Amino acid sequence: MWLGTQSVNELGHLTIGGCDAVQLAEQFGTPLYVLDEAAFRERCRAYREAFQSRKPDTQIAYAGKALLNLAVCQIIAEEGLALDVASGGELYTALRAGYPPEQIHMHGVYKTEAELRQALDARIGTIVLDNFDEIARLQSLLAPHETVRVMIRVAPEVEASTHPLIRTGQRDSKFGFHLMNGDAERATAQVLTEPRFQLKGFHCHIGSQISELDAFAEATRAMVAFAETIRQRYGYAAPVLNLGGGLAVRYTPDDAPPSVGALAEVMVQTLRAECARYGYPEPALVVEPGRSLIAEAGITLYRVGAVKHVPHERRDIPQTYLIVDGGVSDNPRPQMYGACYTALNASRAHPHLPRQPYRILGKHCETDPIIEWAELPETRVGDVIAVLTTGAYAYSMSSNYNRYPRPAMVLVREGQARLIVQRETLEAVIQHDLPAR
Ligand SMILES: Cc1ncc(COP(=O)(O)O)c(C=O)c1O
Repeated sequence: MWLGTQSVNELGHLTIGGCDAVQLAEQFGTPLYVLDEAAFRERCRAYREAFQSRKPDTQIAYAGKALLNLAVCQIIAEEGLALDVASGGELYTALRAGYPPEQIHMHGVYKTEAELRQALDARIGTIVLDNFDEIARLQSLLAPHETVRVMIRVAPEVEASTHPLIRTGQRDSKFGFHLMNGDAERATAQVLTEPRFQLKGFHCHIGSQISELDAFAEATRAMVAFAETIRQRYGYAAPVLNLGGGLAVRYTPDDAPPSVGALAEVMVQTLRAECARYGYPEPALVVEPGRSLIAEAGITLYRVGAVKHVPHERRDIPQTYLIVDGGVSDNPRPQMYGACYTALNASRAHPHLPRQPYRILGKHCETDPIIEWAELPETRVGDVIAVLTTGAYAYSMSSNYNRYPRPAMVLVREGQARLIVQRETLEAVIQHDLPAR
């Protein structure tokens, strides 16, 4: 499963962005996040092309929760993407990167007063309102004549087929104003009566790692129907509809997510058809993918520190364990939701070598499998293992569990590797600790 610029060189090593992965591991240490700049930019362009060729007034907003740092902000600005932030920390990162604030949307189910203040002070593009308490909180922060652009997050009550922990638009979702109980309409009525709010439209996001396009079509239909109800009752036509992110990516060779073109076709055609059905003026479209822009552009390199033969009765996991120098602290997804990944032995990457099964585990003080069943060529202590598709929700969800410093990240392109996140030092890990007396 080669992704992006991945290939194998004459030494039999995995290459990415024209760089030898084994050399990267030696030069920058392991664990190491590696980001394939060409692959990331190619996805940004694919999204713009797929949507804007069908509907020129579509804005592609990168969902920064997938992976955000200064370099990523610079790349998305260069690629002409807007940015969705979900916290004060993500907003701070974007502003420090010099990313244009008017291109930023702010999400979140609980934006604190400090976060709302930060967004107002920076004069960001839009605050996406999630609940009635937040509406009141934002009102209390606004000066008498201060205005702010807002959108209303609607839970369209669509049950996307994905892991329950990354499903966000269903009947019992904690996110947004629900349709069935009338909250979405009540929130809209309330926002429309506040002269300091400029309502740009409605937003929904049904979840992540979604492969069935029908769910996106259903959400689009629900959103246009809701917008039409609001138009009939309040005379307000939404200039913008934000239909969120959520497209699936390839973690294993069994994954076959729809193309960005197929997603664009479904969303744009459904939007057009539904608007035509009601005679609704077609709003501009915003989509905000995270995972499907950056996941496949990232890999994580680990070094094997131990090979253990563990005789056991289970048939679903191999008996040979590879213990690597990372795990749940640099990628909690396998533990959180049993996420599956594909690994390569970057030191012996030739595709024709005979393979055997291994279980790849991290070095933390829990059982932290990274891959339960990996088919690799004979693997020895010192080999470099590459776990693919770790560009999204790995670094951004990392921790210091066991007080391990977070890994470094390099950006690779045309044979050049540039350090974009330094490896944390042990001193940095304890920097906020204070003595007891
Ligand atoms: C509001 C919102 N938009 C966009 C995204 C990005 O989703 P994905 O990374 O699946 O594209 C998320 C992810 O949780 C989200 O909550």
